[in-house]
Amino acid sequence: AISVSYGETQGEGGETHQVANGDVAVLTTQQGVPVADDQNSLRQGARGPTLLEDAHFREKIFHFDHERIPERVVHARGYGAHGFFELTDSLADVSRADVFQRVGERTPAFVRFSTVAGAKGSFDLARDVRGFAVKIYTKEGNWDLVGNNIPVFFIQDALKFPDLVHSVKPAPDREFPQAASAHDNFWDFISLTPESFHMIMWTMSDRAIPRSFRTMEGFGVHTFRLLDDDGNSTFVKFHWKPKQGLQSVVWNEAVKINGADPDFHRRDLWDAINGGDFPEWELGVQLFDDEFADRFDFDVLDATKLIPEELVPIRVIGRLVLDRVVDNFFAETEQVAFCTQNVPPGIDFSNDPLLQGRNFSYLDTQIKRLGSPNFTHIPINAPKCPMAHFQQDGHMAMRNPQGRVNYEPNSWGAAQGGPREDPNRGFTSFAERADGPKQRVRSDSFADHYSQARQFFISQTAIEQKHIGDALVFELSKVERPDIRSRVVSHLMNIDGTLAATVADGLALDLPAPAAAARKPL
Ligand code: HEM
Repeated sequence: AISVSYGETQGEGGETHQVANGDVAVLTTQQGVPVADDQNSLRQGARGPTLLEDAHFREKIFHFDHERIPERVVHARGYGAHGFFELTDSLADVSRADVFQRVGERTPAFVRFSTVAGAKGSFDLARDVRGFAVKIYTKEGNWDLVGNNIPVFFIQDALKFPDLVHSVKPAPDREFPQAASAHDNFWDFISLTPESFHMIMWTMSDRAIPRSFRTMEGFGVHTFRLLDDDGNSTFVKFHWKPKQGLQSVVWNEAVKINGADPDFHRRDLWDAINGGDFPEWELGVQLFDDEFADRFDFDVLDATKLIPEELVPIRVIGRLVLDRVVDNFFAETEQVAFCTQNVPPGIDFSNDPLLQGRNFSYLDTQIKRLGSPNFTHIPINAPKCPMAHFQQDGHMAMRNPQGRVNYEPNSWGAAQGGPREDPNRGFTSFAERADGPKQRVRSDSFADHYSQARQFFISQTAIEQKHIGDALVFELSKVERPDIRSRVVSHLMNIDGTLAATVADGLALDLPAPAAAARKPL
């Protein structure tokens, strides 16, 4: 930049202009042309029309007109920070992933916490699931662990995700209510989707109103695979445990905080990191093999189920520390793009139908949201390891192939021929056998929707159980249609009779018969 020191001049009308003279950078256009006057558009005469010729005006306004990009279709409101992942226990016995090999090694990371249902400008203490998305910039490419603060999910099949999200977002005709769950449409969908009830127990619990992003657990939710050098597979579930402890507020506090400071969680994270109080989480894994998967009461491919820690204890293998706030919210937190399919060699997917659908969905939505398949050229999304491929062109291309060659195989030799595949170091999938008829079907092993919901409820302390009952009464009292309220309670009958009776009583409803456990036509 051209540097001169700062001063003031008087405009023609006597107004004061701040001008560069000395060590202040000169304001320029995007093309680098120094700007003489940023207070007045170019006009014909002092009171005449503005001239189309005013390139500075046009560029500035055009750019402003294009400032907004679509908010994320879910998880629109989020807050991110930088940090690192440090391995504390090698997983080399079960995974060839480079990030799991050397104890003590630190790998840069970026985390974005979020609410799910609210718009970008909504409030922080909504009763909602929280996103816990981690990008770890490993030496073998980015590993995105795109998780939530709750270990299970509402639905078993990604085909139902648009319905779930439509039901929880504002109704299409009236565009309200904006609150996460106080909603006829949401409870209508839930009451017709019994698989959601385990997740409903968690979202009605204090977990859905965390005290701080720093006091939340995080979960990869799905069963993933780890692969060793020989291609052997071990199933894995990922867990983040906050060193700060697990803390929530109560509903009364949540409502007050939303009114007094809707930015409560983002301010808390910003202040903690800037004050040197770096939040930290342990990364734990639950490892199990096919034999455990086969004898487990539930299907490990069913994202509405968790694996109790009593059955498969958590092995802590690392820590995540957030020690740097972003320089620019838009460039980093808004433009970051996480995707479940971003895993390095040594981590692989299971056939969980929710995970399989997510692997498709994120890349697709990001090409729309960020406007170009070149969104990995944005620094926050770019890997921090060497990269070479023949993908080229498109909007905002910054990393086109260098030189003559943009295809392979080619015969231009080592110096000019560009990158080549590497069967030894490259990503390989687990050679899982798959057969059977091609059909739209859900496995019987996904059918028990209530046992883990009950287990969660009875694992809560008396006061926590009361909070769940209170939350259900509060949320369902906002539902206008009595048949929807009753249908929800009919599912609670299958979870805990006392809870169902408390909620029915709170809503002045007759206790309905327990819902038929299986999905059936209306
Ligand atoms: C965004 C988690 C299920 C589609 C997100 C984000 C998180 C997340 C944390 C925010 C990422 C960020 O901060 O930028 C989860 C979890 C799920 C789940 C834990 C279930 C276990 C699904 C499913 C789909 C889906 C089933 C679709 C089939 C999306 C989309 C976005 C998103 C489209 C917006 C991404 C963007 O615009 O960059 N999800 N999600 N999610 N999720 Fe999911």
